[in-house]
Amino acid sequence: MNRIGVIGCGLMGAGIAEVVARSGIAVTVVESTPEALASGQTRVAASLERAVASGKLEPATSDDILARCTFTLALADLVGVDMVIEAVSEDEELKLGLFRQLGELLPDPSVILASNTSSIPIHRLADATSHPERVIGIHFFNPVPVMKLIEVVAGNRTSTDTNRRAHEFATLLNKTAISAPDQAGFIVNFLLIPYLLSAIRLFESGAASAQDIDTGMVLGCGHPMGPLRLTDLIGLDTTLSIAELLFAESGEAHMAPPSLLRSMVRDDHLGRKSGEGFFSYPQ
Ligand code: 3HC
Repeated sequence: MNRIGVIGCGLMGAGIAEVVARSGIAVTVVESTPEALASGQTRVAASLERAVASGKLEPATSDDILARCTFTLALADLVGVDMVIEAVSEDEELKLGLFRQLGELLPDPSVILASNTSSIPIHRLADATSHPERVIGIHFFNPVPVMKLIEVVAGNRTSTDTNRRAHEFATLLNKTAISAPDQAGFIVNFLLIPYLLSAIRLFESGAASAQDIDTGMVLGCGHPMGPLRLTDLIGLDTTLSIAELLFAESGEAHMAPPSLLRSMVRDDHLGRKSGEGFFSYPQ
């Protein structure tokens, strides 16, 4: 792998761009507006600055990592990459449109077309392209520089070669890959999202405070953070999108988004990224 394209530079896209550049591979990051591009660029730089400030990264190494990242508004700048990782927001129509374009823009049969989708079945994205054998899910976890897991999700038409190369790519990034089934939520979100929704329902019922719910799971079960703080980290909008898809696919009541989650998203209480969620995050 010489160069990788990352589409979308939000929370996940920025983290993906950073870990790819840290592994020595050049990255082309594509965003749709100048504002989103600038804030994505700031996100990557801030994360590296944090690592420098804590003594985990040499300033010169940080400069080298940043120098490997190119930021652009033009999808056409992806021509020549070995792999594209789509990391735009969890909107199926948006992703389908992108995969349609990527199939045409990158006809080289060796280019992998990957999605970081957290829940949309990969075969649906693959069917949008004329190259379904090159489409695969490469699902990272937040915060990307810290979390060791990658779910590799092969669709029913993904080639074994694409699957093998995706696993090798995870190793290259110093992450552990698991093979997850091509069903909504894959493995981790299929299990995690109903747990987060249950915590929100408990809080919504007024039976327990947000702090007590979180302390319960941190001290009682040894989780690194409680479910409400974790929802704030993932983003309430992202959690809602995944829950909506899981509910639509399964019809299971425990996958249905609680009304509190919907109203908080409506009020722009999206968690850490907006400064307000179940907890407050002063800038
Ligand atoms: N970027 C880079 N590094 C970060 C970071 C970030 N955003 N946040 C924390 N870190 C690093 C810190 O530098 C620190 O590194 P060090 O131990 O080498 O010094 C380490 O992580 C621990 O950080 P802190 O001491 O600041 O804080 P915590 O000990 O509370 O850890 C946490 C923070 C790593 C976020 C930890 O609480 C955790 O693991 N939480 C669970 C996260 C989780 O479950 N993520 C998965 C979400 S689901 C998902 O992403 C799927 C998607 O599809 C929805």
